[in-house]
Amino acid sequence: MTILLTGAAGYIGSHTAVALAEAGYDVAIVDDFSNSSSEAVRRCEELTGRKMPLYEADVADKAAMEKIFAETKPEAVMHFAGFKAVGESVAKPLKYYRNNLDTTLTLLECMAEAGCKRFIFSSSATVYGAKAAVPYTEDSETGGCTNPYGWTKFMIEQIAAGAAVADPDMSVVLLRYFNPVGAHASGRIGENPSGIPNNLMPYITQVAVGRLPHLNVFGNDYDTPDGTGVRDYIHVVDLAAGHVKALEYALGHTGTEIFNLGTGHGVSVLELVHAFEKATGVKVPYEIAPRRPGDLASVYADCSKAERVLGWKAVKSVEDMCADSWRWQSSNPNGY
Ligand code: UD1
Repeated sequence: MTILLTGAAGYIGSHTAVALAEAGYDVAIVDDFSNSSSEAVRRCEELTGRKMPLYEADVADKAAMEKIFAETKPEAVMHFAGFKAVGESVAKPLKYYRNNLDTTLTLLECMAEAGCKRFIFSSSATVYGAKAAVPYTEDSETGGCTNPYGWTKFMIEQIAAGAAVADPDMSVVLLRYFNPVGAHASGRIGENPSGIPNNLMPYITQVAVGRLPHLNVFGNDYDTPDGTGVRDYIHVVDLAAGHVKALEYALGHTGTEIFNLGTGHGVSVLELVHAFEKATGVKVPYEIAPRRPGDLASVYADCSKAERVLGWKAVKSVEDMCADSWRWQSSNPNGY
């Protein structure tokens, strides 16, 4: 059974490709390499010993996607492709709306035409915006996003759910990721941001490897135990396992279902820095800097629904997240 993954040369998609292949699924990948490398897919094949047909195409290109659907005949689609830099989305909102929405619309049209009924989408905790109280459950209020990137996730959720209303045979699973970190334990695949990282863990590892001089801790006056921002970091290998469970669910159900994928535990910026130092023995110099606009004090998930319905639970520790991120970064100091 073939599962078509968009954007799987990227961070979360590549780890999910490995998990799916290990679970016995055939994986086909479409990526335009706008923010990724085909080397990631080559390494996924090497790790699993399975071929993963790779198509270089823009997911918004209908003619190209129709050909890919005709060739791969996927049973399900996992949609990872999308622009994801929060700051850039504020500066270039139309670029984000155009790309993230167009790709999704084309994909859903191709699925409808090909009779492919299972759609799994990379959504984000960002859809809860600033409205809900932590821990977020899937029923917490959404909307009030603080940037266009977040709104694209919010809108795509509506679009996909609408497609499942119109076609009662369709199954849509919306996975709301919290903060994915870590890497495959082999150190062969991992997060490879272009330019200076926006997110905390890749910033920490690039400081540790000597590419950046120090970490800026964005605010130490939040209403949290040590004053720094609290997030729900989840190991990307746990997240990938969640996708395999979500696929099994989608194959047996119709309609739209939403799952938070996190650990349910909040960790502060300084706790993560200290856990990293303890797990790796490498010092991470930091300075306290002003708050970053749009950041919330504390974001973490209630993941009981995923455990109850999917039988999935994150099992890897913060130490695993740090050790695995470091293995990837230190053995690939310049990425792929
Ligand atoms: C952000 C986005 C989220 C997106 C996610 C992954 C917002 C509000 N959220 O999550 O939509 O899905 O990235 O791309 O923009 N921090 C530092 N120094 C740094 C970097 C981060 O102190 O150099 C702090 C932040 O203030 C925050 C925590 O580390 O408290 C995590 O930040 P980050 O990794 O950027 O993730 P989020 O902001 O939670």
